Amino acid sequence: SKIAVLISGTGTNMTALLYASRLPNAAFEIVLAASNNHDAAGLMTAKSEGIATFAHSHKGMDRAEHDKIMEKAVFDADAEYIVLAGYMRILSAQFVERWNGKMLNIHPSLLPKYRGLDTHKRALDAGDKVAGATVHIVSNELDAGEILGQLEVAIQPDDTPKTLSDRIRIAEHQLFPHVVNAYVSRGYSADWLFDRVRTLAV
Ligand code: GRF
Repeated sequence: SKIAVLISGTGTNMTALLYASRLPNAAFEIVLAASNNHDAAGLMTAKSEGIATFAHSHKGMDRAEHDKIMEKAVFDADAEYIVLAGYMRILSAQFVERWNGKMLNIHPSLLPKYRGLDTHKRALDAGDKVAGATVHIVSNELDAGEILGQLEVAIQPDDTPKTLSDRIRIAEHQLFPHVVNAYVSRGYSADWLFDRVRTLAV
């Protein structure tokens, strides 16, 4: 399956997906890395790996208009799925509806806990013992679409938002390719995915 990855920053999850896509038996390939930020470091990584890239700033235009520009790049690349990997934009409702069931996101918390931003600090402030990452289908409610897989990450007593986020990032790099691969190769089966990925978490 052909996948377009949308990023805003470093794109380490995009990079993890890219290398995973080159393993034997991978069921997906990355046909585009696109960003709302021309300076996103991940674009350079993609370029150097021979992946098509696209960038268009969202500044000075309305949301739906920017989404359309991004979407055109996705169509031009012939992508069947969109994967959001640190894409720091809320998408317009029409865009989300058009890609219903074909767009996944990774979020650095054990959803439904801590939707939105500052997840690591919020988990630490709450005194949680466990944090983690979630891959879910994108729906019009922020970080609330159907959960496809999660990995737990133990919180250490001396963790800061930075140290915790670094470890969660490592977990994300394992989880995301696994879930994307399963999703595109088996079709939509949330229960199956959830069980499988939870097993890996322990
Ligand atoms: C990840 O923690 C992801 O969960 C969140 O944004 C971050 C992106 O990191 N949505 P990177 O750009 O893939 O390194």
